[in-house]
Amino acid sequence: MRQARKMLSANFAEEHADKIPTLLSVSEQAQKFLAEVGGAGKKMRVVIEVDDQGVLSSTLEADPELLELSQAMKLQFRGELIADGYNIRKVDFSKIHGVAGNDLGKLADAMEIPDGARVLDLMCGYGAVSAHILNRAANEGHSIELSMCDLHKVQLDRIPDEVREAAADVTVGDARNLPYEDASFDAVVIKMGLHEVPHIDQPLVFQQVFRVLKPGGRFVIWEVMPDTGEQQDAFTEQMQKKNELAGYESIVVDRYFTRGEQMPWLYEEAGFAGVKQVFEANFHQSTLGRLDSELGGDHHKLDDLNAFVRRCTPDAIRTEVDYKDEGDSISMKVPNRIFRAIKPE
Ligand SMILES: C[S@@+](CC[C@H](N)C(=O)[O-])C[C@H]1O[C@@H](n2cnc3c(N)ncnc32)[C@H](O)[C@@H]1O
Repeated sequence: MRQARKMLSANFAEEHADKIPTLLSVSEQAQKFLAEVGGAGKKMRVVIEVDDQGVLSSTLEADPELLELSQAMKLQFRGELIADGYNIRKVDFSKIHGVAGNDLGKLADAMEIPDGARVLDLMCGYGAVSAHILNRAANEGHSIELSMCDLHKVQLDRIPDEVREAAADVTVGDARNLPYEDASFDAVVIKMGLHEVPHIDQPLVFQQVFRVLKPGGRFVIWEVMPDTGEQQDAFTEQMQKKNELAGYESIVVDRYFTRGEQMPWLYEEAGFAGVKQVFEANFHQSTLGRLDSELGGDHHKLDDLNAFVRRCTPDAIRTEVDYKDEGDSISMKVPNRIFRAIKPE
């Protein structure tokens, strides 16, 4: 039932800069309700009031028959007001993600992009993957049509001019509700993006990518994928603390780092076949490495982070993650993997 939810987004594009960006999770039953609202061309307004005593109340303003329908369906309104971390996070992902040697080449190899292909770099950020794919196509004499999509305009604004000009489109969009037609792409890639989507929503990303791929198309994911639950907890807690100290509220709440063994299930549940891990390296996490890029050079924050990491990394996993405590800098390694699967013909 949860898999049948839909995620709707509004006001993330430039022309709505004066409005509040909104993500609406719509349950299976509520989709029927919204179909009534939209189908009838009617408006519905959810009003949230906080009075001078700080007491909260909310009202649904709509036509009487819609109010009646919402009551008959026993609908609830659930909301989240939260500060958007990706509107302020401006880091060099290649340093943080430990991109080494020919890693981007391996990612592009896994996509198997033929001449004339249509490709989507999803959750593209400032477009490092797109830049690599475009260069490679140019070197091979291939002509490709590359779409770049990310939920945050602030990140898309960081795309270098030459990449933006070479792209077929640069689009604000949510990976859970892609703004592309069915069967549009030969390959879709997400590098270090899946973990930005809450655990409960990750299946929606796989469903959406499946929808926009052509039969035979490839879906390639590069992601930190801890091996065990203990590694997953220790790494997630460390990242949450770092993100809290950096002031990225939504990122603290949303992130979920999927374990390697969970990945085939996510692909297969959406209908993909031939799921394969094509590459494994190590993600090097260093607390000191975040000092200037994310903690604003504040040594007190670094001390807090280090104290937290010492407390939250169980002795039992320290050897397997190559945990090193050098005072100012605590480092550990977690598997970084590339997976690929195919939408059956
Ligand atoms: C860690 S960055 C990776 C960027 C790029 N793929 C790279 O590796 O250089 C994650 C990106 O995901 C984007 N993002 C977060 N949630 C998203 C969502 N629900 N849909 C689309 N993009 C999202 C963020 O704005 C950010 O640019």
